[in-house]
This record gives sequence, structure tokens and C-alpha cells, in this order.
Amino acid sequence: MLKKIFILLTVFLLQLSVYAQKTLAPTPPMGFMTWNYFADKLSEQDVRTITDAMVETGLRDLGFNHIFIDDGWQGGRDFKNNMIPDPKKFPSGMKALTDYVHAKGMKIGIYSDAASLTCAGYTASLNFEEQDAKTFAQWGFDYLKYDYCHAPADWQTAIALYEKMAKALQNSGREIVFGICEWGDRQPWLWARKAGGQLWRTTADVRDKWTAGVQPLNNKTLHAKGAGILDILNLNADLNHYAGPGGWNDPDMLVVGLYGKKGPSGDLGGVGCTDVEYRSQMSLWCLMAAPLMITCDVRNMNEATKRILTNRDIIAIDQDPLGIQAERIINNDTWQVFVKQLANGDVALGVLNVSDKTQTINIDLAALGITGKSNATDLWSKPKTKVKNTIKVQAASHETKVYRLAK
Ligand code: GLA
Repeated sequence: MLKKIFILLTVFLLQLSVYAQKTLAPTPPMGFMTWNYFADKLSEQDVRTITDAMVETGLRDLGFNHIFIDDGWQGGRDFKNNMIPDPKKFPSGMKALTDYVHAKGMKIGIYSDAASLTCAGYTASLNFEEQDAKTFAQWGFDYLKYDYCHAPADWQTAIALYEKMAKALQNSGREIVFGICEWGDRQPWLWARKAGGQLWRTTADVRDKWTAGVQPLNNKTLHAKGAGILDILNLNADLNHYAGPGGWNDPDMLVVGLYGKKGPSGDLGGVGCTDVEYRSQMSLWCLMAAPLMITCDVRNMNEATKRILTNRDIIAIDQDPLGIQAERIINNDTWQVFVKQLANGDVALGVLNVSDKTQTINIDLAALGITGKSNATDLWSKPKTKVKNTIKVQAASHETKVYRLAK
């Protein structure tokens, strides 16, 4: 009898602990990331004005509810080895800043690296994981992007260093989402979730361009030549099986609205894209259930940029609670076709014209597993049509059409 009660109690407690474990990042994180616009020349004033703009433009209410501080905030360590922010850039200190952002109904992220120095050469967290995680928690941060510059190349060490920081965050006394950034060099989709990450970069840094046009297409060539939107798409699209609630493939930031601005995304041929290409990035990233990190100056967006970033129907595809990354079903020199199952039974269909001319295609829906009649809504231009068996799609060069198909 006593044994039975003991077993029942154990089962009950186990279930309780499963329920108590909250999924961090149940949908892909969204917000503004400082890197592509400010590089390491950021300040607390910039973070505040960007936060205000996120609220005023309505972006926060559309789900872009994080400010992700990237590299360049650090001012070294104090006499107790606690990390401190650069006093010139952040004179009011980090707690004042996180309070400001939280008071605006947003969350805030910070950045470090698994070596002694970050990519841009600032103080980083190797051998201070516990201490830094506690500092970030005490300051009130909700997210950590953890980079991998200057760290050992082998997989084993990388996994161990990421696990170490993940544990430190879990012991920090605050819920902190953990973004793994080793650029996909060690196939993090195979281990990052288990190591404690909620998202993991899958490629080299995005540049503000459509394609590097390099062969072979891999991280080595892209690190050297600069990854464009299409290149990243081609590396990230077939990793769909690894994404899901609490663990996302991260194909890097949105370059939408940067128009070739000098700086990190302007390097290596980042001369800027057309609005059609920027709209494609937004569409494709949403189909791929990617984290959405805006990097253009949201205080001064033109109409085209605003329209691209504030399309709530497209954002809903990204944030769909099922958390499925679209499957790329067709991939040839002219077309790429994506299908994403949605929580309410609808299906999102994405059609990218990769060629350099306007093209028309009749897509066999049944071959994509979409049978019977559906109502199709074009999520960019809004017309609704009834479709059965096929859908006729016309798309300009580099354009992505996105349809929501409902029964
Ligand atoms: C690496 C990352 C970028 C950015 C910079 C900062 O290149 O991949 O996203 O964080 O470092 O130095």
C-alpha cells in the first residue's frame, strides 16, 4: 500500500514539474536588433528613442516587442570582476535602461560571447559565465545573444561552452531566452536545443543584398563573400524539421529598409535591395518561422518599409502557434514553393520567383497536399479568390507571393 502511494506521489510530482516547466520562446522572438544600424556605436539614448519608435509606429503591438542590444555596450569589468557597461554610451547604467524598456511594455536583450573578447573586440564571458548571467539577470535582461568569435573551432568545446552559459542563465534567477550564434558552422540545429538554446543562427551574417552568387554555396564561401537573402534562404529552408516551439532556426536579421546603409550589413557587397526583395525577405522569413529582428532605423522609415514590416497577416504566419517551419516543396532555377501548415487548419503557400524576369506558374495544389476547394487570400495585395486543384501565380523577379488558403 505504502509503495503504491509512493509511486502515485512520484508520478503526480513528475507531472507537476512537467506542467511547471514553461516553454521559453513558444513562437519565434521578434523585435529590433541594434547591430546592422548602429554597429558598436550605440548608446542608451539610441535604445530609448528606438524603443519609443517601436511603440509609436505600432511595431510593438504587432509583436516586435524586444529591443536586442548587440555588441559594443561593454565597458569592461569592475574591481569585483562584474561586467559594466561603457559609461560614456550608457551613463545611466543598464538597470535604468531595462526599466525604461519594460515600462514601455517591451522586453530587452543583451549580448556576449563565449571567449574573452567579442567579435568587435569587447569584454566577453569566458570563465565568467555564472557571474555574467547573474549580472544580466539583476540588470533585468530577458534575452542573451551569445556569439562565438575567438572561441575554439571544435564542436565539443562549442557545445560545452553553450551548455555552460545556458545553465548559468537557468540559475540566474530570471527567465532569459538564449540565442546561440555560432553561424551554423557546427550544425547547431542538431544540438542547440538540447544545450539549452531557444534559437540558433544557421548561417554567416546577412548582408544587405539579394545574393553573393557563389559556388559552392556554404558557410565558408558566404563568410568570405557575404551572405545575401537568397543564399541564407537556400541554407535555412531545408532545416525545417528542426524548428518548433521553444527552438528556432535563426537565419539572421531582417535587412528590410536598410537600402545599402554603410556598416555591418553594408560590407561585402551589401549595396542594398529593392523593396520587392525586402518584401521577399519578410515573406520568406515568416514562412520559415524565423525570429524577426528589424535593423533599419524605425524612427525614420519610408512608406514601403513600414508597409513591409507592419503586415499583420504575414506576421501571423510567422507567429502561428503550431510553430512549423514551411516545407520547401519545389526548388528549381525559376521557382521555390513553400507550404506551411497553420494551427486553425489553414495553409500558407509561398511562391518565390528566383529568375530575373516576371513569370507565371500554374501550381498543382493537390501535388502539394492541398485538396478540394479553398479560399485563397493574397497576403500582400489582399484580393481573395476561390481555388480548386490549381492556383495561377504571377510574380516579378525576386518577388514572393504569399497566400493563406482556408476551407
Ligand atoms: C557576429 C554576429 C553578428 C553580430 C556581430 C557583433 O558577426 O554574427 O550578428 O552580433 O558579431 O560583433
